[in-house]
Amino acid sequence: MPYENILVETRGHVGLITLNRPKALNALSDALVTELAAAVDAFEADDGIGCIVLTGSERAFAAGADIKEMAGRNYMDVYLSDFITRKWGRVATARKPVIAAVAGYALGGGCELAMMCDFILAADTAKFGQPEITIGTIPGAGGTQRLTRFVGKSKAMEMVLTGRTIDAAEAERCGLVSRVVPAADLLDEAMKVAARIASLSRPVVMMAKESVNRSYETTLEEGIRFERRLFHSTFATEDQKEGMAAFAEKREANFKNR
Ligand code: HXC
Repeated sequence: MPYENILVETRGHVGLITLNRPKALNALSDALVTELAAAVDAFEADDGIGCIVLTGSERAFAAGADIKEMAGRNYMDVYLSDFITRKWGRVATARKPVIAAVAGYALGGGCELAMMCDFILAADTAKFGQPEITIGTIPGAGGTQRLTRFVGKSKAMEMVLTGRTIDAAEAERCGLVSRVVPAADLLDEAMKVAARIASLSRPVVMMAKESVNRSYETTLEEGIRFERRLFHSTFATEDQKEGMAAFAEKREANFKNR
C-alpha cells in the first residue's frame, strides 16, 4: 500500500516507521493514523521483522491529533464514529516490541502515541506534554491513564491540568523515557537497540514484553504467577536450549526463533 503520511522501511530485521507530515508537525490526522495502523499490521505479519521503531522528524515526533480536523466535529460525530477508534491503539496492541524515538514535540496525541510504545528513547530536544486542556478538551488516547502510570499522580495531574510541557531531562528524571541521547544520535541509537532486540529469540522477547505489560493489568501475585508460567514456557523453546548452551560454550547464541 502506498503511504502518503508516513515513510516505511526495513533495515535488517528492524521495521522503521517515520511519521511524515512535516508541514503540520506530524499532526495525527485520521489518514496518518490509518496508515500507521496498516504499517504496524504489515510488520507484525512479516516474519523477517523482530522489532519496530517509530519516529518523527527533528522538529516533532507529533504535535498531537490534528486539531484542524477535529475542530468541526460534534458529539454525535465523535460518539458514533468512535473517534479515537481502535486503529489509534494499534501500536499498543503490537506483539513485537515497538520503540519510540522522539525528537522535538511529542504533544497531546503525540505523547500518547509515544507512550503506547514499549519504551521511549528521547533526543535532548524532546518535549512532552498533554496540552489538550488549553484547547478545551482532555487527552483521549490514553494520556490520563498511561502518563499517570509512567510519572505518578502529582506530575501527571499537573501536566494534564495545566498543559505544561516537560523537556527531555525532566522526562528522564520522572521515568517517562528510558534514556536521553544527543539529537544527532537518536535514530542510530534506536536502530541499534532495535537490532539488538531483533537478534534475540523472537518468542522469548514477545513473552518478556507480555509479562512486563501484565504488571499494569493485574495484582502483584497474579502478575508473578503469570510471569512464572511464561518463564516455564521458555524452557519449551529451542532458543532457551541454544541460549544456555552458547553461554556454557562461551560463544554467541544463534537463535532460531522457535
Ligand atoms: C494540526 C498542527 C498541530 C496540530 C501544529 N500544527 N500542531 N496542525 N494539529 N496538533 C500546524 C500548525 O497549525 C502550523 O500550520 C504548523 O503545524 C507549524 O506549527 P506552528 O504552530 O506554526 O509551529 P510553532 O510556532 O513552532 O509551534 C509548535 C507547537 C504548536 C508549540 C507544537 O504548533 C502547537 O501548540 N501545536 C498544537 C499542540 C497541541 O495542542 N496538541 C494537542 C492536540 S489535541 P500552518 O498551516 O499554520 O503553518 C490532541 C488530542 C488527543 O492531541 C486526543 C486523542 C487523540
